[in-house]
Amino acid sequence: MPPTHDLTTLHSAPPFTIVIFGASGDLAHRKLLPALFALYCNNLLPEKFVILGAARSDFSEASIRERTRKGAEAYGRFKPSECNRWEDFATHIFYQQLHYDNVDDFTTLKTRLASLEQEQRIPPNRLFYLAIPPGLYIPVVEQLGAVGLAQQHPLGFARVIIEKPFGYDAQSAEELNVRIHRFFSEAQIYRIDHYLGKETVQNLLVFRFANAIFEPLWNRHYVDHVQISVLESVAVGHRGGYYDQAGVMRDMFQNHLMQLLALTAMEPPNAWDATQLRDEKVKVLRAVRPPSAGALRTNTVRAQYQSTDGSGPTYRLEPGVTPHSETPTYAALTLFIDNWRWQGVPFYLRSGKALTGKTTEIFIQFREVPHLLFNAEGTDLAPNALSICLQPHEGFHLRFQTKLPGAGMRTRDVDMRFHFSTAFGEKALPQAYERLLLDAILGDASLFSREDEIMASWQLTDAIIQGWESDDGPPLSFYEPGSWGPVAADNLLAANGRVWSSDCYHDQSNGAPAEPTATSR
Ligand code: BG6
Repeated sequence: MPPTHDLTTLHSAPPFTIVIFGASGDLAHRKLLPALFALYCNNLLPEKFVILGAARSDFSEASIRERTRKGAEAYGRFKPSECNRWEDFATHIFYQQLHYDNVDDFTTLKTRLASLEQEQRIPPNRLFYLAIPPGLYIPVVEQLGAVGLAQQHPLGFARVIIEKPFGYDAQSAEELNVRIHRFFSEAQIYRIDHYLGKETVQNLLVFRFANAIFEPLWNRHYVDHVQISVLESVAVGHRGGYYDQAGVMRDMFQNHLMQLLALTAMEPPNAWDATQLRDEKVKVLRAVRPPSAGALRTNTVRAQYQSTDGSGPTYRLEPGVTPHSETPTYAALTLFIDNWRWQGVPFYLRSGKALTGKTTEIFIQFREVPHLLFNAEGTDLAPNALSICLQPHEGFHLRFQTKLPGAGMRTRDVDMRFHFSTAFGEKALPQAYERLLLDAILGDASLFSREDEIMASWQLTDAIIQGWESDDGPPLSFYEPGSWGPVAADNLLAANGRVWSSDCYHDQSNGAPAEPTATSR
């Protein structure tokens, strides 16, 4: 049986050691170590565990502990100043300096690991977290393999947790899989997509499969179209060197948007189980039709931010970006899914940087009523819609029509809103890495990407990127930083009389009854 997340199971997380490669980096500092501290404050870690940071930097144990305290204070859900268990937690943190390509350093690491396990009486339950640049994945995996750390001990486990990006395209992802599989079996590999750790993303599954009223409507007979928007206000900034090679398709679509698409569109799995859940995701991803050469111009948009008056950032001027770069920082796609449930229903996906605000929304617009009896107030009657808000205020909004009080039979659309923070409190939502780290410790791979899932998603992304690099692609368009993106993206929907929803972004009410949103029609 896969683990469920009631408290009894959570308390039975086994004693473990997590080795964090890249312990001196940003990810460890802002996300991983604060998440481990939050788990500790919530009594979700076992009594015995070791966090062994490993990196090239020369840190003393005292300095890595102090750095971790500062990181948890600045970025954690539970801060050392609020949770009085910091002193205890700090005693679980250790550090080992190493060079990622030096096998002797890994032999030393192995000895250190064994002696910590012996001192602390921890069985050989080991997690190796690769919080390092992708170019170092193979060297580290090979060194782990060479010194025998990839092998599972009969009394324990050995798991490797790998960050995105997993590969640069389908071919390199395949090669990476092959090379990692030389030392780690698929069951030992936990590929992270932090969007799957977000509470609202998991709640999408509960929403769909624990309620009887939505699923019967979740298909081509009742859904007009679906929108998935992952919009960010941050520009590329200091990440130009990485980003100019990746672009928005590799940085956001191949992973986060494809995961949201899969969870929204997949068939119900038979059980909450890593194999069944991932089987369904792969099935639907394989059913997504890559846009044909002819459809690339009509169904896809690629764009870059460019400030016309110099008052905002311009992508081509960011450090690390080539001056004539064609790398898109924004993309919008119309995709179709070739199966019985979704045939003919457009899925509009968009994501970009340097936009007006940060918001992530899945918007399901239902079909119009077949015959209209009433007059909507001054407009066409807005069809029912469901906004699933992942950011900024996690929750759901359901739009429906209501009668305007008074004479006649005039109608207006209103929203019924549910917010997690109102229902469960501001602190109730764990950060994505808390959930994912705990699952990896518990051995539940449901929220991690499997090899075939990664491949299906790369094949689709590759087809679009290659199309864009050929003569069939749409021209690169430009948008002002601080806008909602290029006009071409609005035209993508306008061609069929639709507009992008920004319902979640405009919802600052956090639970109060809503005014109708003109943008969501
Ligand atoms: C990362 C991307 O995977 O996700 C970043 O590399 C992006 O470019 C980030 O900013 C967005 O994550 P979130 O959780 O802030 O929406």
